[in-house]
Amino acid sequence: MHSVFASLLLFASLLVFVLEVLIPVPVASIIIRNKMSERISLPNYNQESGLAKWVALPKVELHCHLEGTLRFSTILQEAKRHKIQLPSNDEAELRKYFLVEEKVDSLAKFLQIVDRQLIIVQDFQTIVRMAREAVIDRCMDGIKVVELRYSPTGLQSAMKSSKIAVTLAEIHDAVQSGINEGAKLCQADGVPIYVGLLCTGILAKGQTDMNNTAEFLLANRGDFIGFDVAGAEEKLLDYKDIFDRVHEAGIKITIHAGELRTPQSVANIRDAIKSLHASRIGHGVNAIRDPEVYQLVKDSSTHLELCPISNVRTNAVDDIKTHPIKKYLDDSFNISISSDDPAAMDITLSYQYGVLHRTFNFGLPDFFRMNRDALSVSFIPMHLKKPLLEQYFSIEAERRFSAKHEESGQWAAA
Ligand SMILES: *[C@@H]1O[C@H](CO)[C@@H](O)[C@H](O)[C@H]1NC(C)=O
Ligand SMILES: *[C@@H]1O[C@H](CO)[C@@H](O)[C@H](O)[C@H]1NC(C)=O
Repeated sequence: MHSVFASLLLFASLLVFVLEVLIPVPVASIIIRNKMSERISLPNYNQESGLAKWVALPKVELHCHLEGTLRFSTILQEAKRHKIQLPSNDEAELRKYFLVEEKVDSLAKFLQIVDRQLIIVQDFQTIVRMAREAVIDRCMDGIKVVELRYSPTGLQSAMKSSKIAVTLAEIHDAVQSGINEGAKLCQADGVPIYVGLLCTGILAKGQTDMNNTAEFLLANRGDFIGFDVAGAEEKLLDYKDIFDRVHEAGIKITIHAGELRTPQSVANIRDAIKSLHASRIGHGVNAIRDPEVYQLVKDSSTHLELCPISNVRTNAVDDIKTHPIKKYLDDSFNISISSDDPAAMDITLSYQYGVLHRTFNFGLPDFFRMNRDALSVSFIPMHLKKPLLEQYFSIEAERRFSAKHEESGQWAAA
């Protein structure tokens, strides 16, 4: 009996060995091995040759919307579980319906497509899953520190449209459970990731909704590391009272501004810095359109959370080559790189590093510099920054990383 069991076990381990080692697997599975109870279906980009090195590079991500991290496979599975009638049975059609894989005319159009995904948010289980997978996917992409942001009232509206009345507190519990589950899985697999949570207010929802969001944040301030305002931009100054209240409570603020090519959007950058207490700007890509605003961002050393591929897809810039990130970097701006809505665009942060390397010839020193700045301006607790800096992002860590990877020849082209 015992020996039969033993040989079965041996056979099983051999099989696992064959499956794990001999069959080529996507980059991310190599990192996580098979302890992780959940695998992600990474975008095809991640199987692109040369991507592994960008995954291996430790990264900080400051600007990532939880609502933009839903895996396409999860959308389909959850739709099935909730018996939701989708507009098509054809996968290619559904990808077009739910994802923004090509440039669209405007941010409004982009948001309209991404919002379609929220139809699957019909119970807490889906929210827990979304948050858990968001953390696992960032961890598998080599991200060591991520600030995830979400809109409590946005998820509440999503559930309301499926006729389920829930409180913001219940939604928030589900988000936190998912994040904790994801972080524990990553920790257990020896690839810890630090996750901070930002509370997002959505401009298009109006004053009362923004006010409710701010109130919710203030009542649960221990759970959040900061406040964010997002959505198709309006005049931000109209919300000054709310920003004042959040700021007076000692909560850090980042604001989406300069994501559109309009004068109002560019003026929003100035107002966010001068009047609305923003210590960081989400995007700020169009600061380049106004010399005065450009100078203000530079002189105040306000950090810009740049999301170049997202900016192309939303038509904030013409194409990746005309994105000002290189100019900002050369001009000593305080900047970092984020993915914004990675799964909704079917990209990863590492994929974007590869694109930036190929477009602007960014190399290790550039990426380390931007990640160091990202960590310095991160809203995560101060006492965590030093150990994270020493382990992954300091000059010393950069040297260790370069030495290790030069030996393997992997970075010859970088
Ligand atoms: C925002 O909330 C505060 C506190 O609950 C309240 O005093 C204020 O009138 C509200 N403002 C708006 C515009 O709803
Ligand atoms: C960005 O800001 C952080 C925090 O103030 C600072 O440590 C860092 O040196 C700045 N980087 C640049 C390029 O200004």
